[in-house]
Amino acid sequence: MSGNAAENRRVPRHLAIILDGNGRWAKRRGLPRLMGHRAGLRKLEEMVHLVKREGIRYFSVYAFSTENWTRPPMEVEGLMSLFRYYIRHKVEAIKAEGARIRFCGRKDKMPPDLLEQMHWAEERTKDETTLDFILCINYGGRAEVLDAMNALIKDGYDGPVTEEALRQHFYLPDVPDPDLIVRTSGELRLSNFWLWEAAYSEFYFTDIHWPDFDEAALKAALADYAGRERRYGGLSS
Ligand code: FPP
Repeated sequence: MSGNAAENRRVPRHLAIILDGNGRWAKRRGLPRLMGHRAGLRKLEEMVHLVKREGIRYFSVYAFSTENWTRPPMEVEGLMSLFRYYIRHKVEAIKAEGARIRFCGRKDKMPPDLLEQMHWAEERTKDETTLDFILCINYGGRAEVLDAMNALIKDGYDGPVTEEALRQHFYLPDVPDPDLIVRTSGELRLSNFWLWEAAYSEFYFTDIHWPDFDEAALKAALADYAGRERRYGGLSS
């Protein structure tokens, strides 16, 4: 993954979204939290289409973090069931969009049947080239760096460790760093998402809860990004 100072594109090549606010969306309507996650899932289906139309090449979403296992078991199980439902029923539609599904995160703790489904979805869509749709599930930025370091050690790498050597052992080494990271629902933090890769990402925060994030909200985020000057530590032009 790399950033390129010479390449100041107006449309992000890689858009990343922290899907936040499903719980608050549901609470506001007097609904159980899981209904918020369901609404969030529907929104995601719509967003893949819109993101592709904007000419974005990589779209990653933070759907379940390495810390989310501490949520009540019923919510965790509900989320795993939603992921299963999504793969079972939506992969063909994603493929028809020309999108390749990729999962990013640790495989441990994940239910084995879901891991199998994830593998199947990746295989089924692996030849699509319009959009890489990256679902970060059981993902943590710190875990990714640690896993990469341990993989280097296992490979017998005898150092010194370089950025490139480390990157080659990340979960998706070919994916460029996120140009724009959007977080919905008002919190102003990264929460362990793309920790290393976000070094020069632009950030956009909105108070809109994820299930309410629509085309206008996406366009507002992209318009804001288009006006940014990215310097990657260099001088302004
Ligand atoms: C954060 O909102 C959201 C999550 C932890 C889950 C996101 C998952 C989905 C949108 C379903 C996606 C499905 C697939 C297949 C990727 P929160 O629960 O933290 O909301 P709150 O902060 O308002 O409580």
